[in-house]
Amino acid sequence: MSQTIAILTGASRGLGAALARALLAPGTQLVTLARRTDDELTALASAQGVKLEQISVDLADANAAAQVAERVCAALPRDAARYLLINNAGTVNPVANASGLTDPAAIGAAFALNVTSVMLLTARFLATTQGLAAKRQIVNISSGAGRQPTAGWAVYCATKAALDMYTRVVNAEHREHGVQAVSLAPGVVDTGMQETIRSSGVESFPGLARFQDLKTSGKLASPADVAQRILALTERDDFGQTEIDDIRNYA
Ligand SMILES: NC(=O)c1ccc[n+]([C@@H]2O[C@H](COP(=O)([O-])OP(=O)(O)OC[C@H]3O[C@@H](n4cnc5c(N)ncnc54)[C@H](OP(=O)(O)O)[C@@H]3O)[C@@H](O)[C@H]2O)c1
Repeated sequence: MSQTIAILTGASRGLGAALARALLAPGTQLVTLARRTDDELTALASAQGVKLEQISVDLADANAAAQVAERVCAALPRDAARYLLINNAGTVNPVANASGLTDPAAIGAAFALNVTSVMLLTARFLATTQGLAAKRQIVNISSGAGRQPTAGWAVYCATKAALDMYTRVVNAEHREHGVQAVSLAPGVVDTGMQETIRSSGVESFPGLARFQDLKTSGKLASPADVAQRILALTERDDFGQTEIDDIRNYA
């Protein structure tokens, strides 16, 4: 019997790769979803005796996301003490002034990944774990950008604001059935997404200099540190009480 069954999206790089490593502990069973898999993670899991399944899927393809969500959740053992869904995969693209957001495919892909795939996975997670005598926890990795407007990030800000409200609705519907959902901003983390941000043109992203400064002055958080703090938050007795949260609120 697994103590914790964790489902994690966006596990191949960045914060997700660090979360995956931090989740590798005896008693945990981990399912990861991203377009790419991670051979090193496979080796680490087998060295620790952790059951790991890595699924390669494009979560910006809503039909693929729906199918994988159904398949993953249907296969979950039903005797774990805790079920943990971490919706971490996300994209900051397209980065553009609102007047330049003319590509429907780019906008649609961002909403599909950042919002729709979260809803599809969460739906199956809620249904599958309903009625189990287990902890049922959801962490949606949001962003300060969902709470504060940022020029050039209209799509990103809108998707993360949507994620925040979606999380609140999940709690409104399911908290009384023991579900704990948190929409969590991770701070500014040293990942590929930050490289993407720094490669933006200043004309599409006026805040460029601040993000360049954060990198050069060593002020970006390390993915491993943020991952540890996120998992520590899920272990707290008061997890879920602050549904819109920021990991920087915790030392
Ligand atoms: N880094 C920051 O400073 C920061 C700040 C605030 C919020 N966040 C949020 O933190 C989360 C993780 O960001 P990160 O910085 O770690 O980003 P990242 O380095 O760009 O990694 C993104 C992860 O998402 C996966 N992903 C991207 N597109 C996908 C798709 N179409 N289908 C499936 N998986 C996909 C990627 O895997 P594949 O490419 O293999 O698919 C990768 O594992 C995101 O939700 C982001 O919005 C980050």
